[in-house]
Amino acid sequence: MTRTLRIAMNGITGRMGYRQHLLRSILPIREQGGVTLPDGSTLQVEPVLIGRNADKVEALAKQHGVERWSTDLDAVIDDPETDIVFDASMTSLRYATLARAMRAGKHIYTEKPTAETLAEAVDLARIRRETGVTAGVVHDKLYLPGLVKLRRLVDEGFFGRIISLRGEFGYWVFEGELQPAQRPSWNYRKQDGGGMTTDMFCHWNYVLEGIIGSVETVSSQTVTHIPTRWDEQGEAYEATADDAAYGTFQLRTPQGDPVVAQINSSWAVRVHRDELVEFQVDGTHGSAVAGLFSCVAQQRASTPKPVWNPDLPTTEKFREQWLDVPANAELDNGFKAQWEEFLRDVAAGREHRFDLLSAARGVQLAELGLQSSEQGRRLPVPEIVL
Ligand SMILES: NC(=O)c1ccc[n+]([C@@H]2O[C@H](COP(=O)([O-])OP(=O)(O)OC[C@H]3O[C@@H](n4cnc5c(N)ncnc54)[C@H](O)[C@@H]3O)[C@@H](O)[C@H]2O)c1
Repeated sequence: MTRTLRIAMNGITGRMGYRQHLLRSILPIREQGGVTLPDGSTLQVEPVLIGRNADKVEALAKQHGVERWSTDLDAVIDDPETDIVFDASMTSLRYATLARAMRAGKHIYTEKPTAETLAEAVDLARIRRETGVTAGVVHDKLYLPGLVKLRRLVDEGFFGRIISLRGEFGYWVFEGELQPAQRPSWNYRKQDGGGMTTDMFCHWNYVLEGIIGSVETVSSQTVTHIPTRWDEQGEAYEATADDAAYGTFQLRTPQGDPVVAQINSSWAVRVHRDELVEFQVDGTHGSAVAGLFSCVAQQRASTPKPVWNPDLPTTEKFREQWLDVPANAELDNGFKAQWEEFLRDVAAGREHRFDLLSAARGVQLAELGLQSSEQGRRLPVPEIVL
C-alpha cells in the first residue's frame, strides 16, 4: 500500500531550498519510491513548487518532472490536498508562513531560524501545541557523519567526564567587489534578517544540546569586520550585520557536569583546518575532533606528554597521533535523513524530535548572544516554558 503526501515547498529557488531540500532530499526520496513505514507500507512524496517568479518556478518544475507549481503561497497552504508546508524562504517571511500553515491544519517542516524574535519563535511552538500538527525544524548538523560519530563516542562513554568543547567555524566570504560573494547579500544586512549570530547560534544551540547538554549561559563578542560589501548587482552596500561572533557557553551534561564551550564563527577568516567546521571535545579519558565528515580520537592511554620548551623546534607530529573513528554505517545526506525521519513522524501522527521549541531555544541563544555583546557581559539562558 502506498500513501502520498503532498509537500508545498516555498523558497525552492534559493540556495538551501533548491540544493539541499529539493535536489538532495525530496526528489531523491520520490525517486527511491518514498520511505518505508514500520507496517511495511510506503509513504511517497509529491512536491508542489512555490515561488514569486512564475517563469523560474515553472522552468524548475518542468526540469525536475514536478507536476504542480504556483506563485500563490496562501492558496497552496489553504488547498485541502496540501499535507505539509515547507519553508526555506527568507527568514523575515517565515513566521507568517508557518503560523498560517499550522492554523490551516498543515504539518510544517522548516529551515532555521524559525523566526526573527524569540517572542515569535515561542508563539510558533504554542500554535503547534494548539493545532496538534507535526512540526520539524532543520537540525542538519546533527546528521552530519562527523557529528554522528562524535555523538556515538559520547554515548559509549569514551570521554570519561567531558570538560570542554571548542568549535571553529568559518571561511572567507568574498566582499563581492572583485570576485562575487559566495553567499547572498541579505546575510550581511541586519534589516533583512542577516548576521552571523542570527544565522549560526541557532545551529550551535542544537549542536551543543545534541552532543553535550543544555546551554546555561552565553557570553559573546560580535563584530562586523568587513563594513562594506558588494551585492548581486555589483552595488556597494553597508554591511550592517555582524560577520563574526566569538562565543563562550557554559553547559550542563545530563549527568550534571559543567562543561565550557567556545565557538568562533566567522565569515572573515581564512581556513587552516581540515573542514569548514570542526569541534574538539576534551574529556578526562579521551578527546575527539569532528568535522563535517571525519572524526578522529585520542585515548588517555595514547596521549603524548609534550613538554613546553620554546628553545627547541617541535618535532612531534601531533596530528598523526589521532585515530580515525569509522562510520560503521552508510550515512546518507543529512538533510535527506532528517526529512525521512520527519515523514515517518507525520505518518505516525507523532511529534518530531527537533521541534519548534528546540528551534525557539536556538533563536533565544542568538538573541542573548547579541545582547551579551552589546552589554559586554555574560547572560543566563532562562528555560522557555510554553
Ligand atoms: N540549515 C542550514 O545550514 C542553512 C544554511 C543557509 C541558510 N539557511 C536558511 O535558509 C533560508 C534561506 O537561505 P538561503 O541561503 O537559501 O537564501 P537565498 O537568498 O538563496 O534564498 C531565499 C529564498 O527566498 C526567496 N525570497 C527572497 N526574498 C523574498 C521575498 N521578498 N518574498 C518572497 N520570497 C523571497 C528567494 O526567491 C529564494 O527562493 C534562510 O532562512 C536561512 O537562514 C539554512
